[in-house]
Amino acid sequence: MDKFIIKGPTPLKGTIPISGSKNAALPIMAAALLADDVVTITNIPRLKDIYTFNNVIRVLGAKVDFDEDQNKITIDPTTVGHLEAPYDLVRKMRASFYMLGALVGKHGSAKVSLPGGCAWGPRPVDLHLKGMEAMGIDISLEKGYVIAKADETLKGGKFRLEPSSVGATVNLLLASVLKAEEFVIENAAREPDVVQLCRVLTQMGADIEGIGTDTLRIRKVDSLSGAEISNDPDRIELGTFMIAGAMIPGSDLTLTGGNPEHLGEFTNKLRKTGARIEVEEDTIRVKAPDQLKPVSIKAEIYPGFPTDLQAQWATMLTQAEGDSKVTDNVYFDRFSYVPELVRLGGELDVEKNTVHISGKTPLTGASVMSTDLRASVSLVLAAMAAENTTEVLRIYHLDRGYESLEKKLNAVGAHLKRVDD
Ligand code: EPZ
Repeated sequence: MDKFIIKGPTPLKGTIPISGSKNAALPIMAAALLADDVVTITNIPRLKDIYTFNNVIRVLGAKVDFDEDQNKITIDPTTVGHLEAPYDLVRKMRASFYMLGALVGKHGSAKVSLPGGCAWGPRPVDLHLKGMEAMGIDISLEKGYVIAKADETLKGGKFRLEPSSVGATVNLLLASVLKAEEFVIENAAREPDVVQLCRVLTQMGADIEGIGTDTLRIRKVDSLSGAEISNDPDRIELGTFMIAGAMIPGSDLTLTGGNPEHLGEFTNKLRKTGARIEVEEDTIRVKAPDQLKPVSIKAEIYPGFPTDLQAQWATMLTQAEGDSKVTDNVYFDRFSYVPELVRLGGELDVEKNTVHISGKTPLTGASVMSTDLRASVSLVLAAMAAENTTEVLRIYHLDRGYESLEKKLNAVGAHLKRVDD
């Protein structure tokens, strides 16, 4: 199992290109299965989750070609014939559950395994299933699989997501665009990943009103055409590197190819720490302040502070002068990184869905364990700020969501070495 050996502290200076977004790519790859022709998507990152998703789509019978040098995927959905997504693939990656909406939406039938829980607790799909039933889809559960049936056009209806859910919004869009006379999703997710999906479906011929708002009205169309799509840049990778540039003293990082508008209130919050941030179209420059100010945040649904950046933010706050707190109102137990930061010298204390942080605490190298994608990258941030050598174990989590991480960070002065343990 691979690990990183990281020497610190290393001020980060130079330019990092932002890769395509994993969480934006997966919904549009699923949407390709609704088309009557080939769909090509550029700016697709070379990440484990993308390869896993390609395999799920191939199992259904579609042809998938991933041109890694061009970061370009070509999906031919016209050969899909096997309407089942198996447990051994779906359990590897929750987003495979999007196959339910895509298959029942296009073919009127689907058998998809329930996704496994993930590192920080069970993650339900009740909203996906209740929303589909509200649309008129027949849903049944059998030995850990969801069976969905919708033989003819559905009358549709209305469904309110409580809480708002990215995945449920995606799945209900995929299920309804070719199937439901009219379907309204209330309290729909407004994340950029969902906005991009709506724009791509519209480009393919779908009829969706309210794009970018929390109420989406879908009206059935007879077919969707193929398309050539350019995927969004990764907003969470961008935010992660902006935090790196702010928290490691002496850093001056320029990030290219990102879209700062996709970060909601994050950028203004980061400015409040004293980090100097210049935004010029798709280029963002972050300079570390002499002293970081403690800025507490609450992770919320978009356009609130992204939950996928709360671990990285808490890590930065260990280097701020003073006390602060980070609350996650999306996932109430996404704090598995805290004991690992304490091993490095951080002073953090979790109480319900809030972590209290006392800063500034010097960090000193130790062996630490990755537990999930965003917790892992937070340990890398801490290791680059810590004195001496840190071992970050089980970095396969990182390979799911950060393309060429060591190459990008070592190019700006970090010392990461990947070792096969
Ligand atoms: C997406 O997960 C992202 N994954 C997550 O990123 C991200 O953290 C999350 O959205 C929130 O922004 C992908 O896009 C592949 P949700 P998703 O459904 O869709 C509850 C990463 O690090 N809920 O918006 O699974 C759920 O428990 C990953 O890249 C229900 O109660 O998240 C949570 O509290 C991690 N019932 C809240 O909604 C349901 O049926 C938000 O979850 C569905 C969700």
